[in-house]
Amino acid sequence: MSDKEILRIAIDGPSGAGKSTIAKIVAERMGIDYIDTGAMYRAIGLKMVNEGVSREDTEEAASERQKVLDRTEIDFDNGVITLDGEDVGGKIRTPEISIAASDYSRFPEVRSKLVAIQREIGHRKSVVMDGRDIGTNVFTDAQYKFFLTATPEERASRRVKELQEKGEDVSYEATLEDIRKRDYNDTHRKLNPLAKADDAIEIDTTDMTIEEVASAILDKIDQN
Ligand code: DC
Repeated sequence: MSDKEILRIAIDGPSGAGKSTIAKIVAERMGIDYIDTGAMYRAIGLKMVNEGVSREDTEEAASERQKVLDRTEIDFDNGVITLDGEDVGGKIRTPEISIAASDYSRFPEVRSKLVAIQREIGHRKSVVMDGRDIGTNVFTDAQYKFFLTATPEERASRRVKELQEKGEDVSYEATLEDIRKRDYNDTHRKLNPLAKADDAIEIDTTDMTIEEVASAILDKIDQN
């Protein structure tokens, strides 16, 4: 397949805006692959936490992280996130790993490793890719770019509901605080912060159902 025929759809936005649920539906209806880049940052976060790697912004800490990254394999295939060959899907959605993913994702050595993997996948096949910097950095040439938002309160309620459905007991206040902290981290980091690409279509999902958001995106793609 030539590069021209490959379709890249970028879906960016803050934590809990519904990106992955929506991206999965859009990919499925279009018959192409869905790539969850947040899961990749979470898998790196998990490895760094397991190995007790520093989150400091010093040269020494950067070289410690680089050494760990050099012996780390991350892949996202068929909806499954693997870390060094192990399916870690069940381990990366905890509050601890959410913060770790956000913390470690600000370092250039972490981003360059994952961005290279993401670009390689998107040059090989058509994808719907969700994240923070897909439209602004990973695929600036994506044919379609969407930026999903919702109020922090709505995103916190959604997260609480999702975790409660999995049997986890979480407080709304703590979740809202976690969302605000991650919003701050993600929008204030120096390297490729969370931002809407100039040519992205913004959708405020606060009062929309999942189906309405998916339809809005699919309609835009159909119109072109
Ligand atoms: O989408 P998520 O909540 O699973 O992402 C977890 C963290 O990973 C998020 O707080 C920031 C980081 N991330 C990133 O920096 N760039 C991406 N493209 C995706 C996620």
